[in-house]
Amino acid sequence: MNLQDLNDLKAKALGEAQNAVDAAAIEAVRIEYLSRKGLLPQVMQELKNVSKEEKPLFGKTVNELKNELTELIKQKQAEFAGGTASGGAGFDLTQPGQWQGLGTRHPITQITDRITGIFQTLGFTVADGPDVETVWNNFDALNTPADHPSRDEQDTFYLESGELMRCHTSPVQVRYMMEHKPPVRIISPGRCYRRDTPDATHSANFHQVEGLYVDENVSLADLKGTLSYFAKEMMGPDVKIRFRPHFFPFTEPSVEVDFTCHVCNGKGCRVCKNSGWIEILGAGMVDPNVFESVGYDAEKVSGFAFGMGIERITMILFGIHDIRNLYENDVRFLSQF
Ligand code: PHE
Repeated sequence: MNLQDLNDLKAKALGEAQNAVDAAAIEAVRIEYLSRKGLLPQVMQELKNVSKEEKPLFGKTVNELKNELTELIKQKQAEFAGGTASGGAGFDLTQPGQWQGLGTRHPITQITDRITGIFQTLGFTVADGPDVETVWNNFDALNTPADHPSRDEQDTFYLESGELMRCHTSPVQVRYMMEHKPPVRIISPGRCYRRDTPDATHSANFHQVEGLYVDENVSLADLKGTLSYFAKEMMGPDVKIRFRPHFFPFTEPSVEVDFTCHVCNGKGCRVCKNSGWIEILGAGMVDPNVFESVGYDAEKVSGFAFGMGIERITMILFGIHDIRNLYENDVRFLSQF
């Protein structure tokens, strides 16, 4: 054996150790080279046959091979002791596994999906609209008088472009009707903006779900039937609903709709302020002026619309007392739902 052969052997040994994939493989390398009958002791035997000139370097290289290989094998053994798929030393199969925590869906998302899901079973489809709206879509087309307080800069965020941040999801009604002929059955969840000072029940941005149903001969009874079905699906079979007369510029007649309090079942408690009822949504029959704005023939079609605040329902159903909790993204809070 000459120095060249020895260098080749060194490269081969270190390569095999480096490529070992588990404890068994590294043990095989150790036996092949370092055991008593292994290759290294044989090479030591060769030393006496090596020429005088090569001897010092040959000896040095053998030692390097021995030390480097021993060190590498040690490293690999430690690495595999930490655990391998096949279970090396130090891998305790009886230990419980480490659970990677999964995220949960945000309460607002959960309730939005439930609401839209219920209306989808009635044949409503989901429609979408942008958060930045034109004044026309948000107010004018919805029959909102020029002096209506909701148009005030104190209530609505106006942009320098002359557009605004929509203050309700009702402009989606306008957008949809402008692009589709009747019949219409849409449900439209989305974000809305108002210049409210944040407190436990107000937030400058919040979510609504809008509903719109337009066809021939749609009546207030259809609205009531639809919302009764929704209330039972959402709150359970015992819930009752009531309509109270109200005013919205875009519906006539307009109503506010209350559900019996889900905490006391209508008997009266702290949550419903002893009234037994909780206000859930605004609704009404689409005003003929709105149909005119979007080019529908108010003589031929009629329809109902409704809008509800998602935060409110979420807070009621989950017993959340402060709307701000929904926006702080504190995982300790969110993971409870
Ligand atoms: N847009 C109304 C609001 O924000 C709710 C509403 C929608 C009322 C549709 C009637 C019809 O309060």
